[in-house]
Amino acid sequence: MAVRAFAPGRVNVIGDHTDYTGGLALPMAIAEGTTVTVERGGDVVRLRSDEEPSPALVPLDVADPAAVDPPWARYVAGVVAELRPAAGATGAVTTKLPLGAGLSSSAALEVAVALALGFEGDALELAQLCQRAEQRASGVPCGIMDQLTSAAGVEGSLLLLDCRALTVTPIPLPAGIAIVGVHSGVARALAGTAYAERRAECAAAEREIGPLRDARPDDLTALVDGVLRRRARHVVTENARVLAFVDALAAGDHELAGAAMNDSHASLRDDFEVSTPAVDALVEQLAAAPGVFGARMTGGGFGGMVIALCDADAADAVATARGGGRFIASAGASLLAC
Ligand code: GLA
Repeated sequence: MAVRAFAPGRVNVIGDHTDYTGGLALPMAIAEGTTVTVERGGDVVRLRSDEEPSPALVPLDVADPAAVDPPWARYVAGVVAELRPAAGATGAVTTKLPLGAGLSSSAALEVAVALALGFEGDALELAQLCQRAEQRASGVPCGIMDQLTSAAGVEGSLLLLDCRALTVTPIPLPAGIAIVGVHSGVARALAGTAYAERRAECAAAEREIGPLRDARPDDLTALVDGVLRRRARHVVTENARVLAFVDALAAGDHELAGAAMNDSHASLRDDFEVSTPAVDALVEQLAAAPGVFGARMTGGGFGGMVIALCDADAADAVATARGGGRFIASAGASLLAC
C-alpha cells in the first residue's frame, strides 16, 4: 500500500524550557513541514531524503537508534524502535523545514515517519512515541512540546500546552497580529549538552523546593545555590508569562503580549543562559522595529530562529527586510493515502 504522511514544524511563541518540568508553553504548528511517501512492505525501512546524500536503511529489529548512520537515519530508527511496525517501507522524505533552525525538523520527521509506518492512536500518544524516539535517537532528554505541536496543531491557533496535565487548548491567533521569524545566522552549537545540563539543574531545584510548576516566586529564596535559583526563577516566571500572554491576547492588548515576549527573552538570556550575543542583538533590533510588539528567541536556544509579534500590516516588511518570513498557524500531522 502506498501512503503519504505530512507533519508540520513549529515555532514556540512563548514558554521555553518549561515543558520538561510539567509547565506551560504556547507554540503553533506552521505551514512548512516534512512529507514521507512510502510503499509499505518488506522487513526494512528504506528512505531517501532530498536533503541528505545517504539514505536511511533501518531494520525492523533495530536495537540502538543512536548507533545508526547516517545521523539523520537515527530519527527514523528511533521511531522504528518505538513503534515496531509489522512491515517495513520504502520511499522518500521531502521537507520545507530548514534543518537546525529551531523549527523542530526532527520532530516533524519522526511524526511523519510514525504515521507513514502505520501508527494508530491519538495525537498525544503519537507525540509521546515520537518524544521517546527523539530521546533514543539523539540522547537529548527533550520535553514533549515539539512532537505534541506537530501532532496536534490547529489551523489559525496557538496551542496552550499544559505539559503536566498533557492537555492542548487552542488559542485563536487574532487577525490583526502576526508571528514572524528571522534566522539569527547562528548554527546551534552544543545545544544538546547544555539542554541536558539545564534539565538536570531544574531537577536539582525541584529536589529542594518541589515541582517548579507549583512553586511561587517566594519559594525560590529557599534555593541557596545562585545558579539553581536563577534557573528555577526562569521556569516559574515563564509559566506565569505564558498565561499573561494568553490573557493579553484575549483582551486585545498586543503591547502587553509583546512585553511578555521581551521579558521571556531577558529571562532566557540572563537567568536560563541559553541565548547567544548574535541572537540577543537580533531580538533587540526586531523589538525596536516599527509595528513590532515584542521579540524573543524560540525553542531550545544557542542560535537558530528569532521571532517577533507584529501588527499584521507590518509583518511582511519586518520579516523580509531581514530575510525572514511570516508563520501561518497550521493544522497538525495527517496521513493521506496515495
Ligand atoms: C527543545 C525541546 C523541547 C523544549 C524546547 C525549549 O525544542 O525539544 O522539548 O524543551 O527545546 O522550550
